[in-house]
Amino acid sequence: MAEQQVIRPARTVSGSVRLPGDKSISHRYAMLAAIAQGATRLDNFSTGADCASTLNCLRVLGVQWERAGNLVTIPGRGLKLRAPTEPLDCGNSGSTMRMLSGILAGQDFSSELVGDASLSRRPMVRVVTPLQAMGAKITTANGTHAPLRITGGNLKAIDCKMPVASAQVKSAVLFAGLFAKGETRVEEPVRTRDHGERALRAFGADVRLPGNGASIVGGQELHGIEATIPGDFSSAAFFLCAAALFPASQVTISGLGLNPTRSSLLDLLAGIGVRISITQLEEHHGELTGTVQVQGAELRGTTIQTPYTERLIDEIPVLAAIAPYTESGIEIRDARELRVKESDRIAALAVNLRAMGAVVEEREDGLRIPGRQSLHGAEIDSFGDHRIAMAFAIAALRAQGETVIKGAGAAVISFPGFFEALESVAQR
Ligand code: S3P
Repeated sequence: MAEQQVIRPARTVSGSVRLPGDKSISHRYAMLAAIAQGATRLDNFSTGADCASTLNCLRVLGVQWERAGNLVTIPGRGLKLRAPTEPLDCGNSGSTMRMLSGILAGQDFSSELVGDASLSRRPMVRVVTPLQAMGAKITTANGTHAPLRITGGNLKAIDCKMPVASAQVKSAVLFAGLFAKGETRVEEPVRTRDHGERALRAFGADVRLPGNGASIVGGQELHGIEATIPGDFSSAAFFLCAAALFPASQVTISGLGLNPTRSSLLDLLAGIGVRISITQLEEHHGELTGTVQVQGAELRGTTIQTPYTERLIDEIPVLAAIAPYTESGIEIRDARELRVKESDRIAALAVNLRAMGAVVEEREDGLRIPGRQSLHGAEIDSFGDHRIAMAFAIAALRAQGETVIKGAGAAVISFPGFFEALESVAQR
C-alpha cells in the first residue's frame, strides 16, 4: 500500500463493501485453537498485519498453522506449547502481546515478547500485575513496558478486580485461568467487549458470567472448531460514518459482526439521525452477524461518556473526524485510554482536525468538537496509527479540496485494501 494516499471529496457514497474478518475475534480464535485438542478451521480470518503477528508468534511456539487466502487451519497442540528459541515479535499489536501473555503465563518455559516502537510505549503493567499474582514470573524493560520476559507454570486462581476496563487484559486473565488451580474471576469497572468469554465457550470451556465479571475453572480442555469470522465492526465503522455524512448515500455491509458489546455505534448513529436497517441476523459460536444498510442524514450532535466511551473506543477516531459536519458537534469524555492506543489518539485527532481548519478543544481525557464547521483538504499525519489514517480519509470526503494522508500504509494493521474499498463506494 502506498505510504501516502490522496483523498478527493465525494458527492455521496453508495454500494456494498466486504470487510476483513474481525480482528478481536481472529486473535482469540487463533490463540485458543493453538491450545485446543484437534484442528480448527477459520474462514474469513483477519487480513490485518496485527493478526499475522499473532499467527507468527504461534508458529515460533510450535503451532504448524497453514493459510490459504483468508482460510487458516490450525492444528491444536493441547494446552502445552513449544518453548520458543527466539523472541516473539508482536509487531504493532497490543492484543497479541497482552492476550498471548495470558497463555504464556501458563507454560513452564521462558519466553520474550517484543514489539515495535509504538507497542513498546504502551502500558503493560495492567496485564503483568494480575499474571504475576497468579504466579507467573514476569519482568519488563523498565518496570512498565515491553519487552516482557515471562516464565510461566504453576498458576493459582485469583480474584481480579481490574482497575482499567480492558478486554485484552480480561481475556489474558481468563486464558491464564485455564492453566490455574481453582476458579479465576475477573471483574471490570465497565463491561468491555466479550469476545474472549464467547470464544472460550465456543472452544468448549465452561465460562460463568456473574454480574460485571467472568470466571473460569482451570484444567479444562478445549477442542477445535470450524468458524467463519464475522466482518470487523470497527472496520465497518469507517463506511458507516462515510454513509452517515451524505443524505443521499446508501451503503450495505453483509456478514458483519454485531456483537452487542461492539456495535454501539449503530445506536449512536441512529440517535443522531442516520437511517439503519439490519437483516439476515444469525448467530454462530455465540457471535451475532447480520447485514446492515445505512442511509445518511443531516446529523445532529451528541456527547459520548462512560460506559459508551469504552464500548465505542475504537470508533471514536472516526466519530471525531465526522464531528465538525454535525449540527451541534460531538463531545467525547472519559476517554483517557485513547492516549495510550497505537498513537496518542486524542492529540492525533486534535492536530489533524486543526490542520483541516476545524476548531477543537483538546482535554486530558477527551475532545469537544463543535458542529457546523467546513473543513478544507490538508496534509494529515497518521502518526503510524491505522485508525487515524482511515478516520481522516472519511473526513476528507466532505472537505473542500484534496487531502493527503501521510503514513496511510498503517491501514494494513487492521484493513489492507481499505483505500481501494473506499474508492469503490465514493461517488464523485
Ligand atoms: C481489543 C480491546 C481494546 C481495543 C483494541 C482491541 C480487544 O483494547 O481498543 O483495539 O480485542 O480486546 P483495550 O483492551 O486496551 O481496551
